[in-house]
Amino acid sequence: MQPTRVGILTSGGDCPGLNAVITAASRCAEKRGWDLLGFCDGFEGLISGTPPRLLSRKETSGIMHTGGTILGTVNRGHFISRGGPRNAGFIPPEIIGRTRRTFEELNLRGLIVVGGDGSLNTALQLHQAGMPIVGVPKTIDNDLEATAMTFGFDSAVECVGSALDRLHTTATSHKRVMVLEAMGRHAGWIALHGGVAGGADIILIPEIPFDFDKIVAEVVRRDKEGAACTMIVAAEGAAPLSGRQFRHRSASGDKRLGGISDVLAREITARTSRDVRTCVLGHLQRGGAPTMTDRILATCFGVRAVELVAEGKFGTMVSHKDHRTVDAPLADAVQRMRKVDPSSHLVLAARAVGISFGD
Ligand code: F6P
Repeated sequence: MQPTRVGILTSGGDCPGLNAVITAASRCAEKRGWDLLGFCDGFEGLISGTPPRLLSRKETSGIMHTGGTILGTVNRGHFISRGGPRNAGFIPPEIIGRTRRTFEELNLRGLIVVGGDGSLNTALQLHQAGMPIVGVPKTIDNDLEATAMTFGFDSAVECVGSALDRLHTTATSHKRVMVLEAMGRHAGWIALHGGVAGGADIILIPEIPFDFDKIVAEVVRRDKEGAACTMIVAAEGAAPLSGRQFRHRSASGDKRLGGISDVLAREITARTSRDVRTCVLGHLQRGGAPTMTDRILATCFGVRAVELVAEGKFGTMVSHKDHRTVDAPLADAVQRMRKVDPSSHLVLAARAVGISFGD
């Protein structure tokens, strides 16, 4: 008799911890006598004709602590379906038909989709079309509703915090203003947590519109106070009170978020004659090995995902709440984005220790 088959794929932007999910799922599947089949390059692997990889214990040994994803991932393709009400899109019926055929041909008992808001939206649509799907939330941005934390986030915060540690010593030596640009398109979790942990003086996040005058005033105030340097962390999606987010044209011609650090540097230099330097962390925040916290979270998520398939709880995703791994409807994850509450405990604590949000 053919063993029970379960599929897994990783979709959207990669993040540290994906391989830990794959490892955990592979071990739990093997314990049940199931075959875990890994589809390559996200949802594309369901229709590409490339046979999925059997993810045995041997195949997944030694990858748990590594960054990226052994299955590959894409954030565009045939399944285009952006997340949330902002950007809803629908998978073409022809693609749904081809995906269904793959499920039937392989006799899949379930498919584990590891992804962010756009990918979980796609997963939800496949589930609504009758396919047995469970979700695992991932994103360094930590902006998914229905889970208090996603793996990848802690690794990104570690990256921002340790970059600030390094930038601090050089900024202090030269008595400079340093602007560190962090990821975070719509939510400022990475900049907030990384900035507080790394001792930033000013943190700019999308949820709190800033005022250039206030930033300049804070730099001048710190100068008068004799501060050796001023460290600013700006989320790429932060925007001024009277304006839009900053974008620049990428090498491929599309307009992408980014450039806030240069704008701030120009503005501060023009108004204070201070020496300002910038550092854009970019994909360093997504690469590299996951932190221990992310490995643990990803392992718990992988374990629970296999249990959800065994229990037939399709249309559900794993979630982290109150220090426990629980379940949540996929629909809850994609309905809106989880943003930083400007009156939350951490924002208030940051203000209490003198950090400015430029407001
Ligand atoms: O969703 C995570 C994220 O890292 C964003 O913060 C960032 O803007 C984006 O992905 C960049 O993704 P990519 O370069 O892969 O298109």
